[in-house]
Amino acid sequence: MKRDFLALAQVSSDDISSLLQRAKFMEDAISGANKTLDILKGKSMVTLFYENSTRTRCSFELAGKYLGAQTVGITTSGSSVKKGESLIDTAVTLDKMQADVIVIRHSVAGAPALIAKHVRASVINGGDGLHAHPTQALLDMYTMQKTFGSLKGLEVAIIGDVKHSRVAQSNIVGLSKMGAKVKVFAPNTLMPRGIETQPCVVCKNAKEAFEGSDVIMGLRIQLERQQKGLFPSVEEYSRFYGVSMERMALCNKGAIVMHPGPANRGIEIDCDVLDSEFCLKDDQVTSGVATRMALLEWCSVDERV
Ligand code: CP
Repeated sequence: MKRDFLALAQVSSDDISSLLQRAKFMEDAISGANKTLDILKGKSMVTLFYENSTRTRCSFELAGKYLGAQTVGITTSGSSVKKGESLIDTAVTLDKMQADVIVIRHSVAGAPALIAKHVRASVINGGDGLHAHPTQALLDMYTMQKTFGSLKGLEVAIIGDVKHSRVAQSNIVGLSKMGAKVKVFAPNTLMPRGIETQPCVVCKNAKEAFEGSDVIMGLRIQLERQQKGLFPSVEEYSRFYGVSMERMALCNKGAIVMHPGPANRGIEIDCDVLDSEFCLKDDQVTSGVATRMALLEWCSVDERV
């Protein structure tokens, strides 16, 4: 059976541990002058992005190249999607070019799972609607594990637009699977329906969210996905829910700040926090290449053999 990577709900904690361990090998391997391995020599990977991306798309393309694979990327603008070609027809077309892996980002939840049923290639979810962004959660977990040694028992507060964040959804699933305690804090209007059934604690105020936390994960206000009126004003949002130095002082000693990027500077997170030494946003980007290399290797294992 081919290996797809669609959501962390379908990945065991043992597989997550192996991927994080293998990411360390990949990070070490590409930190020298020669970044190229031949683990995926002779394989091919296509990135198919229906939504904008800098980090996810470029890191997958570099990860594939560093592993020795042939890589090509297409986006909706400039492809036959603009002529009306359907999602499945597009995916099947790429599959018939003998792509071994297709990494897809789409605005509709379930799009990666849909194409996975129609192609021979392994499908990796690079973010689908409000559903999941499992490779972001994987790189976030790798960054946390590298900093603290283990995910077990870590207290992680996810703060901001939880409702529109597939990053939050995937981190709640992944971190809880790995033994971390996850807290979420957002205005009621930016909290998804049914959050109380998920493996996380819903905080009532900023004190509850920040106090005792080892990791603060700020989330981008996704102005492009939401209708107006979910919070009174950007200034008030920032005042009540923003990540500030004053609030960081409530966290555990040695606490770190993370942000999946891109950040709205001065809105969900203050500039001095974003640029501080305890903010690991740049380490997350570096981790993204290593974890995606580990994942591409993982997907290349054909379970039939
Ligand atoms: N974090 C993230 O998914 O960033 P991009 O949209 O730049 O890929």
